[in-house]
Amino acid sequence: MNISITKTTAPKAIPTENLGFGKHFTDHMFLMDYDRETGWSNARIVPFGRIDMHPAATVFHYGAEIFEGLKAYRREDGKVQLFRPYENARRMNNSAERLRLPQIDENDFVDAIKALVKVDEAWVPANFGESLYIRPFLFGNDETLGVHSIRKATFIIILSPSGSYYPEGINPVKIMIEKDDVRAVKGGTGFAKCGGNYAAANRAGENAEKKGYTQVLWLDGVHRKYIEEVGAMNVMFKIDGEIVTPELTGSILPGITRKSCIEVLKNQGYKVNERLLSIDELVEAMKDGKLEEAWGCGTAAVVSPIGKLYYDGTEYVINNGEIGEVTQKLYDILTGIQWGKVEDTYNWIESI
Ligand code: PLP
Ligand code: COI
Repeated sequence: MNISITKTTAPKAIPTENLGFGKHFTDHMFLMDYDRETGWSNARIVPFGRIDMHPAATVFHYGAEIFEGLKAYRREDGKVQLFRPYENARRMNNSAERLRLPQIDENDFVDAIKALVKVDEAWVPANFGESLYIRPFLFGNDETLGVHSIRKATFIIILSPSGSYYPEGINPVKIMIEKDDVRAVKGGTGFAKCGGNYAAANRAGENAEKKGYTQVLWLDGVHRKYIEEVGAMNVMFKIDGEIVTPELTGSILPGITRKSCIEVLKNQGYKVNERLLSIDELVEAMKDGKLEEAWGCGTAAVVSPIGKLYYDGTEYVINNGEIGEVTQKLYDILTGIQWGKVEDTYNWIESI
């Protein structure tokens, strides 16, 4: 892939404090256009800025949009590295297949990220816990209101120097288990990382926030019974010594952090059961004091302890609202590999 590069003539000041999540954007972005007749073309890195779009563009009306999220980390020796970017490339193509958006060659996907991160390398924060969040996204861009298969699409990558996703940082978050709305069903788009899934989550998320909870934990859409995932992360529990995480049934996002956590835990000698976990079993475990730890995992959220779970009028406190032993160990190993403090025996790191 040939990428043309046009550098900005007005570089911005690079923020170093109070990064938050997804608030600041670097000086450049990557774009590439798709046409069904000619395939992908015009791969380019240009100054970060607004994009010109037709008001009838498919994405505005029928929601054909998918995205990915990964990070570039700065090691103590100053070098910059990515974590499992080919996994994001594969998942993006799985999402694209579901929405009938065009596929992107995995190597082109990773090469585009590397090229863009290189151009804006100075923006990769140096502090442990901070990183350059990478947001690739792909959307249907036909300029017509007809509902038909997608002929034109656009792929863009933007970069955002970020700190922790939750204001709580590594401190435990409060999660509300949602009883009314559902996020996804098997056969729908739950396994795809498409914008529509997040739009469908807005109402419940807002209700939870009003009640003082950070995010909602979804139950499955058919039985309203099985634990699925949280708004921006997969979930894991330690119940009476057993580590359990919901199995991938088609309505849950197959998280790359989830997959990595399972491998790390198994490697540490823990048994991890990917299985159906009902809300009744979870509530019973909370009542009996058998829920020893709960945590979420995701690229933005990293490994996030869950200190409180609200369900059906009752708030349950987990592990005295403190981070548990397994959660802490997982956090240390995973972030250790990502920031280059722990040897990457898994071959997950991709240098820039
Ligand atoms: N589940 C949802 C709904 C998410 O938005 C995310 C974040 O990307 C995850 C799970 C975790 O996925 P990953 O670990 O690949 O970031
Ligand atoms: C990520 O963790 O990369 C995500 O996409 C979550 C997002 C909703 C902030």
